[in-house]
Amino acid sequence: MEIKTELAPLIDILHKTKRVVVLTGAGISAESGIPTFRGEEGLWKTYRAEELATLSAFIKDPRLIWEWYDWRRGIIGSKDFNPGHQVLANWEKLFPAFHVITQNIDGLHQKAGSYNILELHGNIWKLRCTEEETITENHSTPLGEIPPHCSNCGALLRPHVVWFGESLDPSILQSAFALSSSCEVMFVVGTSAVVQPAASLPLSAADSDATVVEINPDPTPITPYADFSFRGKAGDILPRIDGELSLINPSGEE
Ligand code: APR
Repeated sequence: MEIKTELAPLIDILHKTKRVVVLTGAGISAESGIPTFRGEEGLWKTYRAEELATLSAFIKDPRLIWEWYDWRRGIIGSKDFNPGHQVLANWEKLFPAFHVITQNIDGLHQKAGSYNILELHGNIWKLRCTEEETITENHSTPLGEIPPHCSNCGALLRPHVVWFGESLDPSILQSAFALSSSCEVMFVVGTSAVVQPAASLPLSAADSDATVVEINPDPTPITPYADFSFRGKAGDILPRIDGELSLINPSGEE
């Protein structure tokens, strides 16, 4: 497949598009100052994921795991959304049906004003009771108590995130595939596309004849399936597309 890199044909397509889905990864938050996982100074380079982001590590030493998440919450809590997040929040008003499916747990899409969000891997600001499975939102940095306990039953709370070896919430995953296979355009922004099942979503879109648009400084396993592939930063390219779009109304209304 010949991969397009110029904007004009994409803008023409978006002008006639109503249903848009965006799959985001750590790369969209990189320009907010949050480290990605597999880049040069990636989080998994510094910390072996299996030592920290797993249920067995949590059971073995909940304090250590919570100290690590408390440190990450402190970093993320001091960062703000960037122009890439902002454009996606704007597009929720521009396109009749617009959804963000994110692998990120940083909550920056919400902070930028997006509402239609599916969080495949959970959210670092949510805590889940290990007994009652109830979920509470807590933005304190640092956390008052480490490890935190449920105010209702006293059991340990865990981060409401998907750890290596854990499965995703089946209803969230089902919605993600339903949106991916019924959209007209899927943007794939800032993900290395190596973690399943998220990495299969763009293939589901491509199989349903959606236009796939990748935005990433580097090629990924999705690149061969992309109709458009823009080599660059999300915070540069999304505002460029938005700038061209704002000259026309993509929902087709005059
Ligand atoms: N704009 C767009 N893309 C960027 C930028 C940027 N400014 N900076 C880096 N990238 C790209 C990198 O080229 C890379 O392809 O973002 C991608 C980040 O890849 P990863 O670090 O692997 O992050 P991600 O794809 O989100 O990882 C998926 O793996 O460890 C798990 O749960 C974790 O959700 C995470 C999942």
